[in-house]
Amino acid sequence: MLPEIRKDPLGLLQRLAAEFGDVVRMRFGAVTAHMISDPEGVQRVLVENSKNYGKQTRGFLKLREILGDGLLTAEGDTWRRHRRMAQPAFHRHRLASFADAMVHEAAQIADRWRELAARCEAVDVAQEMARLTLQIIGRTMLSRDVALEADRVGRALTYLLHAANRRMSRLLDLPQGLPTPGNLRFAAALRTLDGVVEQIIAERRRAAERPEDLLTLLLESSDEETGERMSDRQLRDEAMTIFLAGHETTANALTWTFYLLSRHPSLGRTLRDELERELRGSPSLADLPRLKLTRAVIDEALRLYPPAWLISRSVTEDDEIGGFRIPAGSIVFVCPFIVHRDARVWENPEGFDPDRFAPERAASIPRGAYFPFGAGPRQCIGASFATLEAQLVLATLWRSFRLDLVPGHPIEPEPSITLRPRHGMPMAVRPWPRGA
Ligand code: HEM
Repeated sequence: MLPEIRKDPLGLLQRLAAEFGDVVRMRFGAVTAHMISDPEGVQRVLVENSKNYGKQTRGFLKLREILGDGLLTAEGDTWRRHRRMAQPAFHRHRLASFADAMVHEAAQIADRWRELAARCEAVDVAQEMARLTLQIIGRTMLSRDVALEADRVGRALTYLLHAANRRMSRLLDLPQGLPTPGNLRFAAALRTLDGVVEQIIAERRRAAERPEDLLTLLLESSDEETGERMSDRQLRDEAMTIFLAGHETTANALTWTFYLLSRHPSLGRTLRDELERELRGSPSLADLPRLKLTRAVIDEALRLYPPAWLISRSVTEDDEIGGFRIPAGSIVFVCPFIVHRDARVWENPEGFDPDRFAPERAASIPRGAYFPFGAGPRQCIGASFATLEAQLVLATLWRSFRLDLVPGHPIEPEPSITLRPRHGMPMAVRPWPRGA
């Protein structure tokens, strides 16, 4: 299967699920892996028996080289303590204070797009969204204009993500310590990022007045049981985790949303109508409950193109799923991309139909069938942050512009750490015609 895994992993996984069913066992050298593709099995792994499914998988071990013991990669008591301490920072009423920064940054892009639209120019929406979400996480987490450092930090982050992905997909890895050119570049990129993050933490600790951002919330949070605060190392790991987990994922969600809207122009117009009808001026948090289609469009884009397309776990003790033994020491993965397109659950699974997320229809989606943010105790801590951000950005930009994919451009989802368009997403930016 290896050549096919490299060439078309999503196609291969879809084919395996269709051919062999809900539990597929695969062997990669000494590693035995199982793909679980039915909602009940997903619930068992992520929710009901989640204690039995750890993060000692190749992917998480590789990520740990970058993120240390941050929330995404930590386990056991360390993870529990950090999650308790970080949770308040992501509470709904806290997020409200970030909405303005999100709209402000989106409006900057809109200003730039206005000039492009006047010249009928195309833009790579994937790159634009990556820059925008990086800028937003920089503002909300660090109260800094990372655009000033965007090149250095952005380059180091992008390189690290690529390198981590390459390492994850390689079966045999040269040891980390060997001074190969790849390892040296990896170490240098990590040092650059570490340097920036550590400097910011040190400045913040010294500051007499601290801005109300995620970093301050983490810095001042204490464990309700022990009263303990985060050390510099912990803060570095959490900041790095939030940077990485919180920027590419949301950028991809938005990019795929624009792609789907460009493929469905009449739905795009209905969305524009909603924005025209419901908004006075820039969108704000208070508008969101009325922007029902905006929300449903994002939910549906996350169904068809879940940025976190694969979630892996290591099996601690023997378990049974769907009548099959899942032995201790093996690997299990659940793949939202596959489950979100299961014809047994979704009518017209490949079709773009935001209406399926209208409250009366959404109520009948079975548990474990839709999980773009994971599920159970390890569910994404940034899910509300991300949906808030995606709604505000989409509302700001779609109200002023429609986007059309450059004709003939190949679109292929690339299952890297996140699911992104392999060849970018060049789109023409156009203002809405008057009276539309
Ligand atoms: C559309 C955007 C996003 C998607 C699709 C997404 C998806 C996910 C998924 C599937 C997980 C669970 C991984 C697992 O079970 O192994 C996760 C965890 C996590 N995400 Fe997100 N995420 C998004 C945005 C964000 C944002 C904006 C932040 C931070 C601001 C964030 C921070 C985290 C963290 C810290 C974890 C680890 C949580 C834990 O294990 O306690 N994510 N995310």
